Amino acid sequence: MLISFLKHQARYKIHPEIDPLIESISAVHQDTGLYLHIPFCKHFCTFCPYHKFRYDENMLRTYTEAVFREFGLYPPREYDSLYVGGGTPTVHQGLLLELIRFFRPIIRREIGVELHPLDATGELLELMETEGVQYLSLGIQSMHDEVLRHFGRNHSARDNHRALSQVMNAGYKLVDVDLVFDLAAFSSEVVLKDFETVCAYLPHQISIYPMMRFSFAPYRTKNQPAREFETFLQIDKLALRMGYHRDMLWTYRRSGVAGRYSSVTRPFFRGIGISASSFNGEGFYVNTFDYDRYLTCIANARLPVSKRYRLSDWENALFYLFWSLYRNELNLALWCDYFPQQKARGRLLFRYLRLLGYLEPISPELWGLTQHGRKAFHRLEEWLTYAMIEPIWNDYATTPRARDSDQPQPARGP
Ligand SMILES: C[S@@+](CC[C@H](N)C(=O)[O-])C[C@H]1O[C@@H](n2cnc3c(N)ncnc32)[C@H](O)[C@@H]1O
Ligand code: SF4
Repeated sequence: MLISFLKHQARYKIHPEIDPLIESISAVHQDTGLYLHIPFCKHFCTFCPYHKFRYDENMLRTYTEAVFREFGLYPPREYDSLYVGGGTPTVHQGLLLELIRFFRPIIRREIGVELHPLDATGELLELMETEGVQYLSLGIQSMHDEVLRHFGRNHSARDNHRALSQVMNAGYKLVDVDLVFDLAAFSSEVVLKDFETVCAYLPHQISIYPMMRFSFAPYRTKNQPAREFETFLQIDKLALRMGYHRDMLWTYRRSGVAGRYSSVTRPFFRGIGISASSFNGEGFYVNTFDYDRYLTCIANARLPVSKRYRLSDWENALFYLFWSLYRNELNLALWCDYFPQQKARGRLLFRYLRLLGYLEPISPELWGLTQHGRKAFHRLEEWLTYAMIEPIWNDYATTPRARDSDQPQPARGP
């Protein structure tokens, strides 16, 4: 009942946005990261909700040109970091390197790229490093062939072993490995074994996601948050034995490692490309999912933004709080600085969350989630994915180019 009400509220917050003023969505904060979406894949995995088209070199070339022009619509400034995600950013080596070369001069810190295991060749790894990429996220998903088949992946456990060796030998500053589990199909022992196998390669970070079932994926089962949370508690113990500790909600970091692969979990971000989203502390914006509309907007020097979440100052502060807690590093003083009008309300909420036993100090300035807090947050994160991300991504159904792809079509929301 409560969830249905909140879902309704979340839908009410989404507004079509045509031709927003550049000033209204320009990034205002220093610690803003840049995210670039490359929406092309050679193979479509069954479990994947990300917006993508079947790879076509000409389409990708046109798209790359459009991305440069979209970026040029914003006032020039530096960004903290650049994360390139997708789709599959490594689908075309030359164009990826061209993009990185273009953006590198305005990036103050790390450049991170999502890497498909089948693209983890010595040649590409060397070229990316030469161009300044220091962070990689490797889409391993599982070290079991039957799990990979369940997700509709096009690589085997053997390919994953080979990719892990290649990447770990390439000397990158930070390597994240993505794992996904589905307790409706496989036991928790399977994911524990996956975690242990991956740990043996000593990546700096391991992200483990419960599989989310978007309405267009062919899974008719449901998430089981209580069982998933229990599994995370088991992983916590195993991680400590393997020299890792829980860092963010669904991420583990090797002890002694500085830095973290973190794309949209950044405080503020500007998204460039089809379906990319932006948060500047004054609103949450989503670019169009329609390929033709994206190109037309760019050709007419108009921002390709198509949706806006109508957020009040308080809701913006809550959005910021949410991601701070996801990262397990709430800096109360900084939060008050970013949202000065909400200082009194924010402090009250903070006291309330402490009273509920959700927060604990982790350093003189930072607060993190207690185990009790993590349990509540696990449910909240899943709820938000279904209540807020799914309606946005349902946009897929209305994009003509998406219909050309062989992605199963989403069911429309109620
Ligand atoms: C854009 S994809 C990865 C990049 C690259 N295309 C690849 O497949 O290796 C980003 C990550 O999202 C995660 N992911 C995809 N679908 C998911 C789902 N339904 N539920 C949870 N995580 C998912 C996977 O771990 C994946 O590595
Ligand atoms: S998970 Fe599969 S479909 Fe999704 S972006 Fe990666 S390769 Fe493409």
